[in-house]
Amino acid sequence: EFKENTSIVVFGASGDLAKKKTFPALFGLFREGYLSKTSHIIGYARSKLSTEELRERIKSYLKFPSDDTKLVDEFLSLISYIAGPYDTPEGYEKLKDSIEQFDKSRNVTESHRLFYLALPPSVFTVVASKLKEICHPGSKGLARIIVEKPFGHDLQSAQELQSQLAPLWSEDELYRIDHYLGKEMVKNLSVLRFSNSFISAAWDSRSIACVQISFKEPFGTEGRGGYFDSIGIIRDVMQNHLFQVLTLLAMEDPKSSEAEAVRDEKVKVLKAIKKFDEKNILIGQYGKSADGTKPGYLDDDTVKPDSKCVTFAALTLEVDNDRWRGVPFILKAGKALNEGKVEIRIQFKPTGDESFTKVIRDELVIRIQPNEAMYLKMNTKIPGVRSDLAITELDLSYKNRYSDFYIPEAYESLIRDCFLGDHSNFVRDDELDLSWGLFTPLLNYLEGPDAPTPESYAYGSRGPQQLIPYLEKNGYVHQTKA
Ligand code: BG6
Repeated sequence: EFKENTSIVVFGASGDLAKKKTFPALFGLFREGYLSKTSHIIGYARSKLSTEELRERIKSYLKFPSDDTKLVDEFLSLISYIAGPYDTPEGYEKLKDSIEQFDKSRNVTESHRLFYLALPPSVFTVVASKLKEICHPGSKGLARIIVEKPFGHDLQSAQELQSQLAPLWSEDELYRIDHYLGKEMVKNLSVLRFSNSFISAAWDSRSIACVQISFKEPFGTEGRGGYFDSIGIIRDVMQNHLFQVLTLLAMEDPKSSEAEAVRDEKVKVLKAIKKFDEKNILIGQYGKSADGTKPGYLDDDTVKPDSKCVTFAALTLEVDNDRWRGVPFILKAGKALNEGKVEIRIQFKPTGDESFTKVIRDELVIRIQPNEAMYLKMNTKIPGVRSDLAITELDLSYKNRYSDFYIPEAYESLIRDCFLGDHSNFVRDDELDLSWGLFTPLLNYLEGPDAPTPESYAYGSRGPQQLIPYLEKNGYVHQTKA
Protein backbone atom coordinates (compact mmCIF):
# COMPACT_ATOMS: atom_id res chain seq x y z
CA GLU A 1 0.00 0.00 0.00
CA PHE A 2 1.19 3.54 -0.77
CA LYS A 3 0.74 5.45 2.46
CA GLU A 4 3.22 7.80 4.05
CA ASN A 5 5.87 9.64 2.08
CA THR A 6 4.55 8.85 -1.36
CA SER A 7 5.59 10.96 -4.32
CA ILE A 8 2.71 11.62 -6.67
CA VAL A 9 3.59 13.15 -10.01
CA VAL A 10 0.82 14.59 -12.16
CA PHE A 11 1.83 14.91 -15.80
CA GLY A 12 -0.14 17.41 -17.82
CA ALA A 13 -0.51 19.41 -14.59
CA SER A 14 -1.52 22.61 -16.36
CA GLY A 15 -4.15 20.87 -18.51
CA ASP A 16 -7.89 20.61 -18.14
CA LEU A 17 -8.15 17.08 -16.86
CA ALA A 18 -5.59 17.66 -14.11
CA LYS A 19 -7.23 20.90 -13.01
CA LYS A 20 -10.77 19.66 -13.09
CA LYS A 21 -10.37 16.07 -12.01
CA THR A 22 -6.95 14.90 -10.83
CA PHE A 23 -6.03 17.61 -8.31
CA PRO A 24 -9.57 17.93 -6.94
CA ALA A 25 -9.62 14.14 -6.47
CA LEU A 26 -6.31 14.25 -4.61
CA PHE A 27 -7.75 17.03 -2.47
CA GLY A 28 -10.87 14.96 -1.78
CA LEU A 29 -8.68 12.08 -0.63
CA PHE A 30 -6.65 14.44 1.51
CA ARG A 31 -9.76 15.88 3.12
CA GLU A 32 -11.15 12.41 3.84
CA GLY A 33 -7.87 11.26 5.33
CA TYR A 34 -6.88 8.86 2.54
CA LEU A 35 -3.96 10.91 1.33
CA SER A 36 -1.30 11.30 3.96
CA LYS A 37 -0.05 14.71 5.00
CA THR A 38 3.43 13.42 4.35
CA SER A 39 2.80 13.00 0.62
CA HIS A 40 4.67 14.95 -1.96
CA ILE A 41 2.77 16.05 -5.06
CA ILE A 42 4.63 17.28 -8.10
CA GLY A 43 2.90 18.83 -11.09
CA TYR A 44 4.78 18.43 -14.35
CA ALA A 45 3.99 20.08 -17.68
CA ARG A 46 5.57 22.08 -20.46
CA SER A 47 4.06 25.44 -19.48
CA LYS A 48 6.33 27.90 -17.75
CA LEU A 49 4.59 28.28 -14.41
CA SER A 50 5.76 28.84 -10.88
CA THR A 51 4.65 26.56 -8.08
CA GLU A 52 2.59 29.48 -6.73
CA GLU A 53 0.81 29.91 -10.06
CA LEU A 54 -0.01 26.23 -10.27
CA ARG A 55 -1.37 26.25 -6.71
CA GLU A 56 -3.56 29.25 -7.53
CA ARG A 57 -4.97 27.52 -10.61
CA ILE A 58 -5.69 24.36 -8.71
CA LYS A 59 -7.28 26.21 -5.82
CA SER A 60 -10.08 27.59 -7.97
CA TYR A 61 -11.23 24.04 -8.76
CA LEU A 62 -11.24 22.68 -5.22
CA LYS A 63 -14.57 22.36 -3.48
CA PHE A 64 -14.47 23.35 0.17
CA PRO A 65 -16.51 25.35 2.66
CA SER A 66 -15.37 28.96 2.62
CA ASP A 67 -14.29 28.76 6.26
CA ASP A 68 -12.02 25.81 5.67
CA THR A 69 -9.12 27.46 3.95
CA LYS A 70 -6.67 25.90 6.40
CA LEU A 71 -7.21 22.46 4.94
CA VAL A 72 -6.82 23.82 1.43
CA ASP A 73 -3.60 25.59 2.31
CA GLU A 74 -2.25 22.44 3.90
CA PHE A 75 -3.06 20.50 0.75
CA LEU A 76 -1.59 23.11 -1.58
CA SER A 77 1.60 23.21 0.45
CA LEU A 78 2.26 19.58 -0.58
CA ILE A 79 2.37 20.62 -4.24
CA SER A 80 5.34 21.81 -6.24
CA TYR A 81 5.81 22.26 -9.96
CA ILE A 82 8.42 21.30 -12.52
CA ALA A 83 8.28 22.67 -16.06
CA GLY A 84 9.89 20.46 -18.62
CA PRO A 85 9.55 18.94 -22.07
CA TYR A 86 8.01 15.53 -22.50
CA ASP A 87 10.45 14.12 -25.00
CA THR A 88 13.92 14.98 -23.69
CA PRO A 89 15.57 13.95 -20.42
CA GLU A 90 16.18 17.34 -18.69
CA GLY A 91 12.87 17.64 -16.90
CA TYR A 92 12.87 13.99 -15.88
CA GLU A 93 16.29 14.41 -14.30
CA LYS A 94 14.94 17.31 -12.24
CA LEU A 95 11.96 15.22 -11.30
CA LYS A 96 14.12 12.35 -10.21
CA ASP A 97 16.29 14.68 -8.09
CA SER A 98 13.24 16.18 -6.48
CA ILE A 99 11.85 12.75 -5.56
CA GLU A 100 15.20 11.55 -4.29
CA GLN A 101 15.66 14.64 -2.16
CA PHE A 102 12.21 14.17 -0.73
CA ASP A 103 12.91 10.52 0.06
CA LYS A 104 16.16 11.47 1.70
CA SER A 105 14.60 14.18 3.82
CA ARG A 106 12.14 11.61 5.12
CA ASN A 107 14.60 8.78 5.52
CA VAL A 108 12.54 6.69 3.15
CA THR A 109 13.94 3.22 2.64
CA GLU A 110 11.46 2.06 0.01
CA SER A 111 10.55 4.81 -2.43
CA HIS A 112 6.87 4.90 -3.48
CA ARG A 113 6.12 6.74 -6.70
CA LEU A 114 2.83 7.23 -8.43
CA PHE A 115 2.86 8.76 -11.91
CA TYR A 116 -0.45 10.07 -13.17
CA LEU A 117 -0.52 10.72 -16.91
CA ALA A 118 -3.23 13.28 -17.63
CA LEU A 119 -1.89 13.62 -21.15
CA PRO A 120 -2.97 13.40 -24.77
CA PRO A 121 -2.14 10.09 -26.47
CA SER A 122 0.46 11.73 -28.74
CA VAL A 123 2.97 12.07 -25.88
CA PHE A 124 1.84 9.16 -23.88
CA THR A 125 4.41 6.55 -24.93
CA VAL A 126 7.36 8.91 -24.81
CA VAL A 127 6.52 9.98 -21.26
CA ALA A 128 5.97 6.40 -20.12
CA SER A 129 9.30 5.40 -21.56
CA LYS A 130 11.30 8.36 -20.16
CA LEU A 131 9.75 7.77 -16.76
CA LYS A 132 10.73 4.16 -16.80
CA GLU A 133 14.24 5.02 -17.91
CA ILE A 134 14.89 7.90 -15.53
CA CYS A 135 12.38 8.02 -12.69
CA HIS A 136 11.59 4.40 -11.88
CA PRO A 137 13.03 3.48 -8.48
CA GLY A 138 14.01 0.00 -9.68
CA SER A 139 14.68 -2.34 -6.80
CA LYS A 140 14.73 0.60 -4.35
CA GLY A 141 11.00 0.97 -4.33
CA LEU A 142 7.69 0.63 -6.10
CA ALA A 143 6.26 2.62 -8.99
CA ARG A 144 2.74 2.73 -10.38
CA ILE A 145 1.55 4.53 -13.45
CA ILE A 146 -2.00 5.66 -14.11
CA VAL A 147 -3.01 6.27 -17.69
CA GLU A 148 -6.12 7.82 -19.15
CA LYS A 149 -8.07 6.91 -22.25
CA PRO A 150 -8.04 6.92 -25.22
CA PHE A 151 -6.26 3.59 -25.25
CA GLY A 152 -5.94 3.49 -29.00
CA HIS A 153 -8.28 4.42 -31.81
CA ASP A 154 -9.07 0.93 -33.03
CA LEU A 155 -7.85 -2.61 -32.50
CA GLN A 156 -4.57 -2.15 -34.34
CA SER A 157 -3.54 1.11 -32.68
CA ALA A 158 -4.57 -0.19 -29.26
CA GLN A 159 -2.37 -3.23 -29.78
CA GLU A 160 0.50 -1.06 -30.96
CA LEU A 161 0.22 1.13 -27.89
CA GLN A 162 0.11 -1.95 -25.76
CA SER A 163 3.19 -3.45 -27.37
CA GLN A 164 5.10 -0.21 -26.78
CA LEU A 165 4.12 -0.05 -23.13
CA ALA A 166 4.33 -3.70 -22.16
CA PRO A 167 8.13 -3.96 -22.19
CA LEU A 168 8.36 -0.83 -20.02
CA TRP A 169 5.60 -1.14 -17.46
CA SER A 170 4.23 -4.46 -16.26
CA GLU A 171 0.47 -5.05 -16.00
CA ASP A 172 1.00 -4.94 -12.25
CA GLU A 173 2.36 -1.42 -12.37
CA LEU A 174 -0.08 -0.11 -14.96
CA TYR A 175 -3.49 1.30 -14.00
CA ARG A 176 -5.74 2.11 -16.98
CA ILE A 177 -8.46 4.43 -15.82
CA ASP A 178 -11.99 4.19 -17.01
CA HIS A 179 -13.53 6.64 -14.60
CA TYR A 180 -16.96 5.02 -14.89
CA LEU A 181 -15.57 2.15 -12.83
CA GLY A 182 -15.08 4.57 -9.94
CA LYS A 183 -18.65 5.86 -9.90
CA GLU A 184 -20.59 4.97 -6.78
CA MET A 185 -23.46 3.21 -8.52
CA VAL A 186 -21.18 1.28 -10.83
CA LYS A 187 -19.20 0.05 -7.85
CA ASN A 188 -22.50 -0.99 -6.29
CA LEU A 189 -23.51 -3.28 -9.15
CA SER A 190 -21.75 -6.39 -7.92
CA VAL A 191 -23.10 -5.99 -4.39
CA LEU A 192 -26.58 -5.53 -5.75
CA ARG A 193 -26.37 -8.55 -8.02
CA PHE A 194 -24.44 -11.07 -6.01
CA SER A 195 -25.58 -10.49 -2.46
CA ASN A 196 -29.34 -10.11 -2.87
CA SER A 197 -30.94 -13.44 -3.53
CA PHE A 198 -34.13 -12.10 -5.13
CA ILE A 199 -32.13 -10.06 -7.63
CA SER A 200 -29.60 -12.78 -8.21
CA ALA A 201 -32.39 -15.29 -8.90
CA ALA A 202 -34.01 -13.05 -11.49
CA TRP A 203 -30.85 -12.02 -13.30
CA ASP A 204 -31.05 -13.97 -16.53
CA SER A 205 -33.02 -14.51 -19.70
CA ARG A 206 -35.80 -16.37 -17.94
CA SER A 207 -36.77 -13.20 -16.06
CA ILE A 208 -35.20 -10.33 -17.96
CA ALA A 209 -36.69 -9.12 -21.23
CA CYS A 210 -34.33 -6.29 -22.09
CA VAL A 211 -31.40 -4.30 -20.72
CA GLN A 212 -30.75 -0.72 -21.71
CA ILE A 213 -27.69 1.34 -20.76
CA SER A 214 -28.17 4.97 -21.57
CA PHE A 215 -25.82 7.97 -21.51
CA LYS A 216 -27.23 11.42 -22.16
CA GLU A 217 -25.42 14.73 -22.05
CA PRO A 218 -27.13 18.11 -22.30
CA PHE A 219 -24.22 19.83 -24.04
CA GLY A 220 -22.49 19.42 -27.38
CA THR A 221 -18.81 19.34 -28.24
CA GLU A 222 -18.39 23.05 -27.46
CA GLY A 223 -14.70 23.82 -27.61
CA ARG A 224 -13.68 20.21 -28.29
CA GLY A 225 -15.07 19.77 -31.80
CA GLY A 226 -11.64 19.36 -33.38
CA TYR A 227 -10.81 16.63 -30.93
CA PHE A 228 -14.19 14.95 -31.10
CA ASP A 229 -14.43 14.84 -34.88
CA SER A 230 -12.00 11.97 -35.24
CA ILE A 231 -13.40 10.20 -32.19
CA GLY A 232 -17.19 10.26 -32.22
CA ILE A 233 -19.55 9.19 -29.45
CA ILE A 234 -18.91 5.46 -29.90
CA ARG A 235 -15.21 5.71 -29.06
CA ASP A 236 -15.76 8.53 -26.60
CA VAL A 237 -18.15 6.77 -24.23
CA MET A 238 -19.53 3.52 -25.63
CA GLN A 239 -16.49 1.35 -26.28
CA ASN A 240 -15.18 2.20 -22.84
CA HIS A 241 -17.62 3.55 -20.23
CA LEU A 242 -20.83 1.83 -21.33
CA PHE A 243 -19.03 -1.39 -22.14
CA GLN A 244 -17.56 -1.49 -18.65
CA VAL A 245 -21.03 -1.10 -17.19
CA LEU A 246 -22.29 -3.82 -19.50
CA THR A 247 -19.65 -6.34 -18.46
CA LEU A 248 -20.38 -5.73 -14.78
CA LEU A 249 -24.08 -6.23 -15.40
CA ALA A 250 -23.62 -9.40 -17.39
CA MET A 251 -20.69 -11.20 -15.77
CA GLU A 252 -20.92 -14.34 -13.64
CA ASP A 253 -20.20 -14.11 -9.92
CA PRO A 254 -16.41 -13.83 -9.60
CA LYS A 255 -16.66 -15.55 -6.18
CA SER A 256 -13.77 -13.45 -4.89
CA SER A 257 -13.26 -9.72 -5.05
CA GLU A 258 -9.67 -10.25 -6.18
CA ALA A 259 -8.92 -8.07 -9.18
CA GLU A 260 -8.00 -10.93 -11.48
CA ALA A 261 -11.08 -12.93 -10.59
CA VAL A 262 -13.31 -9.97 -11.41
CA ARG A 263 -11.51 -9.13 -14.62
CA ASP A 264 -11.49 -12.77 -15.75
CA GLU A 265 -15.29 -12.78 -15.52
CA LYS A 266 -15.57 -9.51 -17.43
CA VAL A 267 -13.40 -10.92 -20.16
CA LYS A 268 -15.64 -13.97 -20.47
CA VAL A 269 -18.61 -11.68 -21.14
CA LEU A 270 -16.69 -9.82 -23.83
CA LYS A 271 -15.82 -13.11 -25.47
CA ALA A 272 -19.47 -14.12 -25.50
CA ILE A 273 -20.73 -10.96 -27.22
CA LYS A 274 -21.82 -11.67 -30.77
CA LYS A 275 -20.39 -9.66 -33.65
CA PHE A 276 -22.46 -6.49 -33.92
CA ASP A 277 -25.12 -6.25 -36.55
CA GLU A 278 -23.93 -3.10 -38.34
CA LYS A 279 -27.26 -2.63 -40.02
CA ASN A 280 -29.05 -2.48 -36.70
CA ILE A 281 -27.58 0.72 -35.38
CA LEU A 282 -29.16 4.12 -35.09
CA ILE A 283 -26.80 7.05 -35.55
CA GLY A 284 -27.36 10.76 -35.26
CA GLN A 285 -25.63 14.11 -35.36
CA TYR A 286 -27.04 17.17 -33.65
CA GLY A 287 -28.07 20.28 -35.52
CA LYS A 288 -29.07 23.67 -34.13
CA SER A 289 -31.49 23.80 -31.22
CA ALA A 290 -35.16 24.28 -32.13
CA ASP A 291 -35.01 27.95 -31.09
CA GLY A 292 -31.76 28.48 -33.00
CA THR A 293 -29.79 29.62 -29.97
CA LYS A 294 -27.52 26.58 -29.70
CA PRO A 295 -25.15 25.74 -32.54
CA GLY A 296 -25.28 22.53 -34.52
CA TYR A 297 -22.30 20.19 -34.57
CA LEU A 298 -21.25 21.36 -38.04
CA ASP A 299 -21.36 25.02 -36.99
CA ASP A 300 -18.14 24.41 -35.09
CA ASP A 301 -15.26 25.81 -37.20
CA THR A 302 -12.88 23.12 -36.01
CA VAL A 303 -15.06 20.40 -37.51
CA LYS A 304 -14.92 19.24 -41.16
CA PRO A 305 -17.85 20.93 -42.95
CA ASP A 306 -19.19 17.64 -44.32
CA SER A 307 -18.34 15.60 -41.24
CA LYS A 308 -20.42 12.49 -40.66
CA CYS A 309 -19.19 12.28 -37.11
CA VAL A 310 -21.66 10.47 -34.92
CA THR A 311 -22.76 12.39 -31.82
CA PHE A 312 -25.57 9.97 -31.00
CA ALA A 313 -25.67 6.21 -31.33
CA ALA A 314 -27.90 3.34 -30.26
CA LEU A 315 -26.64 -0.19 -30.66
CA THR A 316 -28.19 -3.53 -29.78
CA LEU A 317 -26.07 -6.54 -28.97
CA GLU A 318 -26.41 -10.05 -27.66
CA VAL A 319 -24.36 -11.86 -25.05
CA ASP A 320 -24.38 -15.35 -26.41
CA ASN A 321 -24.17 -17.53 -23.31
CA ASP A 322 -26.59 -19.59 -21.25
CA ARG A 323 -27.49 -16.74 -18.95
CA TRP A 324 -28.26 -14.13 -21.58
CA ARG A 325 -29.01 -15.72 -24.93
CA GLY A 326 -31.95 -13.88 -26.52
CA VAL A 327 -31.89 -10.81 -24.26
CA PRO A 328 -31.25 -7.56 -26.15
CA PHE A 329 -28.67 -5.25 -24.56
CA ILE A 330 -29.25 -1.78 -25.94
CA LEU A 331 -26.48 0.78 -25.55
CA LYS A 332 -27.44 4.35 -26.20
CA ALA A 333 -25.28 7.47 -25.98
CA GLY A 334 -25.70 11.01 -27.14
CA LYS A 335 -24.48 14.56 -26.78
CA ALA A 336 -26.55 17.76 -26.93
CA LEU A 337 -29.72 16.09 -25.68
CA ASN A 338 -32.59 17.30 -23.51
CA GLU A 339 -30.95 16.26 -20.23
CA GLY A 340 -27.84 14.87 -18.61
CA LYS A 341 -28.49 11.41 -17.27
CA VAL A 342 -26.77 8.04 -17.16
CA GLU A 343 -28.87 5.06 -16.22
CA ILE A 344 -29.39 1.35 -16.57
CA ARG A 345 -32.90 0.07 -17.25
CA ILE A 346 -33.65 -3.59 -16.73
CA GLN A 347 -37.08 -4.68 -17.91
CA PHE A 348 -38.48 -7.91 -16.53
CA LYS A 349 -40.74 -10.31 -18.35
CA PRO A 350 -44.44 -10.14 -17.42
CA THR A 351 -45.82 -12.84 -15.14
CA GLY A 352 -48.64 -13.47 -17.61
CA ASP A 353 -51.36 -12.67 -15.11
CA GLU A 354 -53.27 -9.90 -16.80
CA SER A 355 -55.88 -9.29 -14.13
CA PHE A 356 -53.32 -7.95 -11.68
CA THR A 357 -51.16 -6.11 -14.15
CA LYS A 358 -50.89 -2.47 -15.00
CA VAL A 359 -47.27 -1.94 -15.79
CA ILE A 360 -46.49 -4.58 -18.38
CA ARG A 361 -42.93 -5.06 -17.35
CA ASP A 362 -41.47 -4.42 -13.93
CA GLU A 363 -38.49 -2.22 -14.51
CA LEU A 364 -35.44 -1.73 -12.35
CA VAL A 365 -33.75 1.60 -12.96
CA ILE A 366 -30.25 2.16 -11.67
CA ARG A 367 -29.39 5.82 -12.04
CA ILE A 368 -25.65 6.35 -12.12
CA GLN A 369 -25.97 10.13 -12.33
CA PRO A 370 -27.09 12.70 -11.45
CA ASN A 371 -28.57 11.92 -8.02
CA GLU A 372 -27.71 8.28 -7.59
CA ALA A 373 -30.82 6.16 -7.21
CA MET A 374 -32.31 2.75 -7.71
CA TYR A 375 -35.99 2.26 -8.20
CA LEU A 376 -38.26 -0.51 -9.27
CA LYS A 377 -41.38 0.29 -11.25
CA MET A 378 -43.97 -2.24 -10.24
CA ASN A 379 -47.66 -3.00 -9.84
CA THR A 380 -49.48 -2.30 -6.60
CA LYS A 381 -53.05 -1.94 -5.49
CA ILE A 382 -54.18 1.60 -4.80
CA PRO A 383 -55.10 1.79 -1.11
CA GLY A 384 -58.83 1.70 -0.51
CA VAL A 385 -61.79 -0.63 -0.67
CA ARG A 386 -61.60 -0.91 -4.41
CA SER A 387 -59.07 -3.03 -6.19
CA ASP A 388 -57.69 -0.49 -8.62
CA LEU A 389 -54.12 -0.95 -9.70
CA ALA A 390 -51.32 1.55 -9.97
CA ILE A 391 -47.78 1.61 -11.20
CA THR A 392 -45.62 2.60 -8.30
CA GLU A 393 -41.96 2.76 -7.43
CA LEU A 394 -39.96 1.03 -4.79
CA ASP A 395 -37.53 3.85 -4.41
CA LEU A 396 -34.00 4.07 -3.08
CA SER A 397 -32.86 7.59 -3.76
CA TYR A 398 -29.48 8.25 -2.26
CA LYS A 399 -30.46 11.84 -1.54
CA ASN A 400 -33.11 10.63 0.89
CA ARG A 401 -31.48 7.51 2.20
CA TYR A 402 -27.86 8.58 2.37
CA SER A 403 -28.13 12.33 2.71
CA ASP A 404 -25.40 12.40 5.37
CA PHE A 405 -22.91 10.47 3.30
CA TYR A 406 -20.19 11.89 1.17
CA ILE A 407 -20.31 10.39 -2.31
CA PRO A 408 -16.80 10.56 -3.70
CA GLU A 409 -15.92 11.58 -7.21
CA ALA A 410 -15.03 8.61 -9.40
CA TYR A 411 -11.40 9.69 -9.57
CA GLU A 412 -11.11 9.74 -5.79
CA SER A 413 -12.15 6.11 -5.54
CA LEU A 414 -9.84 5.07 -8.32
CA ILE A 415 -6.75 6.88 -7.11
CA ARG A 416 -7.32 5.37 -3.69
CA ASP A 417 -7.57 1.91 -5.25
CA CYS A 418 -4.25 2.59 -6.91
CA PHE A 419 -2.67 3.56 -3.56
CA LEU A 420 -3.91 0.21 -2.28
CA GLY A 421 -2.58 -1.66 -5.30
CA ASP A 422 -6.07 -2.88 -6.18
CA HIS A 423 -6.64 -3.35 -9.91
CA SER A 424 -10.30 -4.49 -9.74
CA ASN A 425 -11.62 -1.20 -11.06
CA PHE A 426 -9.05 -0.72 -13.79
CA VAL A 427 -9.07 -2.02 -17.33
CA ARG A 428 -6.93 -5.03 -18.20
CA ASP A 429 -5.18 -5.36 -21.57
CA ASP A 430 -7.30 -8.28 -22.76
CA GLU A 431 -10.52 -6.36 -22.02
CA LEU A 432 -9.26 -3.68 -24.35
CA ASP A 433 -8.36 -6.10 -27.09
CA LEU A 434 -11.75 -7.74 -27.00
CA SER A 435 -13.80 -4.57 -26.92
CA TRP A 436 -11.79 -2.99 -29.74
CA GLY A 437 -12.16 -6.26 -31.63
CA LEU A 438 -15.93 -5.84 -31.46
CA PHE A 439 -16.07 -2.13 -32.21
CA THR A 440 -13.45 -1.84 -34.95
CA PRO A 441 -15.50 -3.41 -37.80
CA LEU A 442 -18.46 -1.21 -36.86
CA LEU A 443 -16.29 1.93 -36.78
CA ASN A 444 -14.68 1.00 -40.09
CA TYR A 445 -18.13 0.75 -41.61
CA LEU A 446 -19.32 4.04 -40.11
CA GLU A 447 -16.17 5.82 -41.24
CA GLY A 448 -15.71 4.03 -44.56
CA PRO A 449 -16.77 4.99 -48.09
CA ASP A 450 -20.26 3.52 -47.66
CA ALA A 451 -20.88 5.20 -44.36
CA PRO A 452 -24.52 5.99 -43.74
CA THR A 453 -25.41 9.62 -43.02
CA PRO A 454 -26.34 10.18 -39.39
CA GLU A 455 -29.89 11.37 -38.78
CA SER A 456 -29.98 14.98 -37.70
CA TYR A 457 -31.57 15.84 -34.35
CA ALA A 458 -32.06 19.20 -32.72
CA TYR A 459 -29.71 20.30 -29.97
CA GLY A 460 -31.65 19.86 -26.73
CA SER A 461 -34.04 17.21 -28.09
CA ARG A 462 -34.40 13.58 -27.06
CA GLY A 463 -32.32 12.44 -30.03
CA PRO A 464 -33.14 11.28 -33.57
CA GLN A 465 -36.82 10.86 -34.49
CA GLN A 466 -36.16 7.20 -35.11
CA LEU A 467 -35.11 6.58 -31.52
CA ILE A 468 -38.41 5.39 -30.06
CA PRO A 469 -39.19 3.06 -32.98
CA TYR A 470 -35.59 1.78 -32.79
CA LEU A 471 -35.86 0.96 -29.09
CA GLU A 472 -39.24 -0.69 -29.48
CA LYS A 473 -38.13 -2.72 -32.45
CA ASN A 474 -35.22 -4.01 -30.42
CA GLY A 475 -37.23 -5.06 -27.42
CA TYR A 476 -37.54 -2.11 -25.07
CA VAL A 477 -41.10 -1.19 -24.07
CA HIS A 478 -41.88 2.43 -23.19
CA GLN A 479 -44.07 2.55 -20.11
CA THR A 480 -45.41 5.66 -18.51
CA LYS A 481 -46.41 6.08 -14.92
CA ALA A 482 -50.16 5.88 -14.32
C1 BG6 B 1 -15.34 11.32 -21.03
C2 BG6 B 1 -15.70 11.75 -22.43
O1 BG6 B 1 -14.60 10.14 -21.06
O2 BG6 B 1 -16.53 11.12 -20.31
C3 BG6 B 1 -16.53 13.02 -22.40
O3 BG6 B 1 -14.51 11.99 -23.16
C4 BG6 B 1 -17.73 12.82 -21.52
O4 BG6 B 1 -16.93 13.38 -23.69
C5 BG6 B 1 -17.30 12.26 -20.15
O5 BG6 B 1 -18.34 14.08 -21.36
C6 BG6 B 1 -18.50 11.91 -19.29
O6 BG6 B 1 -18.09 11.68 -17.99
P1 BG6 B 1 -19.06 12.00 -16.79
O7 BG6 B 1 -18.33 11.53 -15.58
O8 BG6 B 1 -19.29 13.47 -16.80
O9 BG6 B 1 -20.31 11.24 -17.06
